[in-house]
Amino acid sequence: MSVGQNAVLVTGARGGIGAALCRGFKAAGWFVIGTSQGTPSDPALYDHYVKLDMSAFVKDADARAAFIDTVKDMCGNIPLKALINNAAVQHLGQTETITSEVMQESFNVNTIGPFLLTQGFLQALEASKGSVLNIGSVHARATKPEFVPYATTKAALHGLTRALAVDLGGRVRVNTLAPAATATPMLLAGFEGREEAFKELAAVHPVDRIAQPEEICDAALFLCSDNASFVTGSSFYIDGGILSRLHDPV
Ligand SMILES: NC(=O)c1ccc[n+]([C@@H]2O[C@H](COP(=O)([O-])OP(=O)(O)OC[C@H]3O[C@@H](n4cnc5c(N)ncnc54)[C@H](OP(=O)(O)O)[C@@H]3O)[C@@H](O)[C@H]2O)c1
Repeated sequence: MSVGQNAVLVTGARGGIGAALCRGFKAAGWFVIGTSQGTPSDPALYDHYVKLDMSAFVKDADARAAFIDTVKDMCGNIPLKALINNAAVQHLGQTETITSEVMQESFNVNTIGPFLLTQGFLQALEASKGSVLNIGSVHARATKPEFVPYATTKAALHGLTRALAVDLGGRVRVNTLAPAATATPMLLAGFEGREEAFKELAAVHPVDRIAQPEEICDAALFLCSDNASFVTGSSFYIDGGILSRLHDPV
């Protein structure tokens, strides 16, 4: 631990954006605790790593208490200054095929888990004058076919941000960072051998490209810092302009 160091908890730390967040926060001097469901892909990204199954965390109060105690122990004397709710599940399917289990799991991982993590770390975040950063999505505002569970639960996450910001007032800042398509390994793999489709995806963004994970991290570093001390309840879109574009034929 270095003097003045702060801790950040990043969920979904094995994913494309989660790994970039861990790398970027570590490089900026933060003490990084990462969580995901599996074993860490690159242990050098974290100061500590702890497994988290968000569905179990939501359903089981004992698992919840154990996880929160574990993270507090890992922090030791280092103040927990930021909670980044980044883990998410994305189930795709037509309306007729979506089960209540899929809707429930989507809410558990994407919305209720972030709420319960905020609740669990509230005292620690208040003591550090810290903040919660929820990773939302452009799908909270504009979506496409087969995205009902994801778009609905991301819209709820943006709503949760506003409600928590109002309820917590000056105690803990709460914001949403909402990316558009981001060049994670999983997204790029989905376009392998489909260069034209990838070019089309880039071209629908006014900036003519998709985001890099590091660009999401740069905005996260700002929102979790004291430079953003008057920012709470906001949804901050990192979208290359896509939400401003009207898709009418020219
Ligand atoms: N990539 C994009 O284009 C994009 C665009 C807009 C918004 N976002 C948002 O950015 C965030 C990160 O996305 P990403 O693209 O980096 O996703 P990703 O690569 O699919 O990673 C998702 C992460 O969430 C974790 N996770 C999933 N289900 C979980 C569960 N039940 N319990 C605990 N952890 C769970 C995964 O853990 P395991 O690896 O252990 O399975 C993984 O670490 C998400 O909130 C996503 O909605 C992404």
